[in-house]
Amino acid sequence: MKWDPAQYLRFADARGRPFQDLMARVGSAGEITPSYVVDLGCGPGNLTAGLADRWPGADIEGVDSSAEMIERAQQDNARDGVRFSVGDLRAWAPTRPVDVLASNATLQWVPGHLELLERLVGFVAPGGWFAFQVPGNFGEPTHTELAAVRTSPRWQPVLGGLDLPQPAVKEPVTYVRRMTELGCAVDAWETTYLQVLPGPDAVLEWMKGTGLRPVLSALDEDQQAEFVAEYAERLRAAYPQESFGTVLPYRRIFVVARRET
Ligand SMILES: C[S@@+](CC[C@H](N)C(=O)[O-])C[C@H]1O[C@@H](n2cnc3c(N)ncnc32)[C@H](O)[C@@H]1O
Repeated sequence: MKWDPAQYLRFADARGRPFQDLMARVGSAGEITPSYVVDLGCGPGNLTAGLADRWPGADIEGVDSSAEMIERAQQDNARDGVRFSVGDLRAWAPTRPVDVLASNATLQWVPGHLELLERLVGFVAPGGWFAFQVPGNFGEPTHTELAAVRTSPRWQPVLGGLDLPQPAVKEPVTYVRRMTELGCAVDAWETTYLQVLPGPDAVLEWMKGTGLRPVLSALDEDQQAEFVAEYAERLRAAYPQESFGTVLPYRRIFVVARRET
């Protein structure tokens, strides 16, 4: 699946908010001055690089499996103490214990991510933190309408045989149980943001940066235009544009775990 950093960054501010809220709970009582911070699935690196402002002097590493995303990160966000590399988080391993391990809006793209949590926690130093955020909005029209178009008689024959990435998450309590079993003190919550998006077909443009990527990556240009037109019509009905913008309810699940031993 091919990512488009420019499209993704069109809504950088709105997309960044959950990351800020997530990281605000890491070391919120001033318990740590991390020396090694890693962001798995760092995307274009803008949020990763911001961690250097909070923890100057820390070694900050962003890892992402998309060459396009890492190219953008290296171009825009590499600086002293902040580096980026292409890598699959399922195979990635640090060379020393990590003080803060973050993963924002990424684990939903990794099949079997619940089973991966043990390995990831194992990389965290005792007393260190593992913070991740995933979507909780797969029941929203953004996703149900996408599935309806994808599996319609027009598109099922084209897309049905392909093994398209399907983002998926667990219920929040499942993460709480698992992280507790893994020896962490867990702080978890969920939030529904009401993102007010500017411009016409704003929800479509938003989805072109994320949830629509697997479908777009699988279609040629003519097919993309046809698919997008059909999906856009459904989105306009589900998310009417108002005088001030288009409201996108955006539920997210947050887990901040502190490794105790
Ligand atoms: C929605 S973006 C989030 C980017 C960034 N964390 C942010 O919050 O802006 C999801 C990112 O996860 C990356 N990703 C998906 N599967 C991955 C994997 N197995 N290993 C590393 N990165 C992965 C994608 O390439 C993409 O850049």
